[in-house]
Amino acid sequence: MREVEHPGGEHPSTLILGIGELTTNDPTLGADGDPTGVLRDAALLLDGGRVAWVGPERACADGVEAALGRAPDRVVGADGRAVVPGFVDSHTHLVFAGDRSAEFEARMAGRPYAAGGIRTTVAATRAASDDELRAGLRRHVGEALAQGTTTLEVKSGYGLTVADEERSVRLAAQVTEEVTFLGAHVVPPEFSGDAGGADAYVDLVVGDMLGACAPHSRWVDVFCETGAFTPEQARRVLEAGAAAGLGVRVHANQLGPGEGVRLAVELGAAAVDHCTYLSDDDVAALAASWTGEGSGTVATLLPGVEFSTRQPYPDARRLLDAGAVVALASDCNPGSSYTSSMPLMVALAVREMGMTVAEAVWAATAGGARALRRDDVGHLAPGARADVVVLDAASRTHLAYRPGVPLVHAVWKDGHPAR
Ligand code: NIG
Ligand code: FE
Repeated sequence: MREVEHPGGEHPSTLILGIGELTTNDPTLGADGDPTGVLRDAALLLDGGRVAWVGPERACADGVEAALGRAPDRVVGADGRAVVPGFVDSHTHLVFAGDRSAEFEARMAGRPYAAGGIRTTVAATRAASDDELRAGLRRHVGEALAQGTTTLEVKSGYGLTVADEERSVRLAAQVTEEVTFLGAHVVPPEFSGDAGGADAYVDLVVGDMLGACAPHSRWVDVFCETGAFTPEQARRVLEAGAAAGLGVRVHANQLGPGEGVRLAVELGAAAVDHCTYLSDDDVAALAASWTGEGSGTVATLLPGVEFSTRQPYPDARRLLDAGAVVALASDCNPGSSYTSSMPLMVALAVREMGMTVAEAVWAATAGGARALRRDDVGHLAPGARADVVVLDAASRTHLAYRPGVPLVHAVWKDGHPAR
């Protein structure tokens, strides 16, 4: 990318010219019936951390004059590259310490994935200092940014004491606004057996732990699955979180069928994540959640998990054909999916899950934004956050066509060059 000027300023205005293919995710901007609003030979004006104008390059003199009334501070050329909105990764577990590569290796040798592996990371996380956790968190956020992720949700869930969960959400809040309290990830070992069991642990989660974590969090989450929490326990956690002012999201139907998806829809969750084992009723409930007023429940698919645990992939086609809204996220965590790569999620969704390139790119950007109930990210219409990814490719198709290749040429976050 050629840069013509280098001015200073808090939020210098930047005009990006020479965009070969621009995915705006604004259906009013592209061809009729294209939800991804693709423009060819386009230009994009960023100002004040927002998109100020977008359109065909031939119209950019008038567009810039109308939007800015002066020459932009900086003009850069994309040299025919494709541009997409910054990826919105709506599901990660980045506050952790330790490594589970041995567990991964054993799994690849035939051992099945089980929810209990989470406790290994809990022990390492409790033993880590704040500085160690902060350093790991920042490293992973930087790794994600380098791959085009400009909005990232981060969950707690490897502390599982009041103090360790509180510090997890507090540290997460230093890197993102999208912090999720996942005290109900698994039942910690000190509550097993005669120590009171899952119900006693849920008492703690909905009591002191929620009280300590809610001030740092936007969301509450629960792992509703055999080996983690029952639907009844999940309902208690989610209702208590909602009563404390948190939005609801759920981990469900990852390892087998269950009631988690329908519970999430019933409680008006912003998203239910995994959705690998779905009944027809689950699919119908997810689709129906979008037919009334307001926002429904996004089905967030996490194909890094199926890749890393050798499970069958979720059936995205079935969800999309039924009218459900689908997002893609990395689920980056040291156990079931140790990747922060949203381009990999796009590639897996296209190769393994029956999604078109357009659907997968939308799901990794606008879909993630819906899953976080955000309208300022995931698209590049005027007014959107200036979170922009320039690909080292002529089209977004290369995200799936060239899996594993670092295709992120440049990233702009809040209008600033971030990479
Ligand atoms: O989303 N499903 C529950 N939690 C994580 C797994 C975390 C782990 O294995 O450490 C997930 O896949
Ligand atoms: Fe997860």
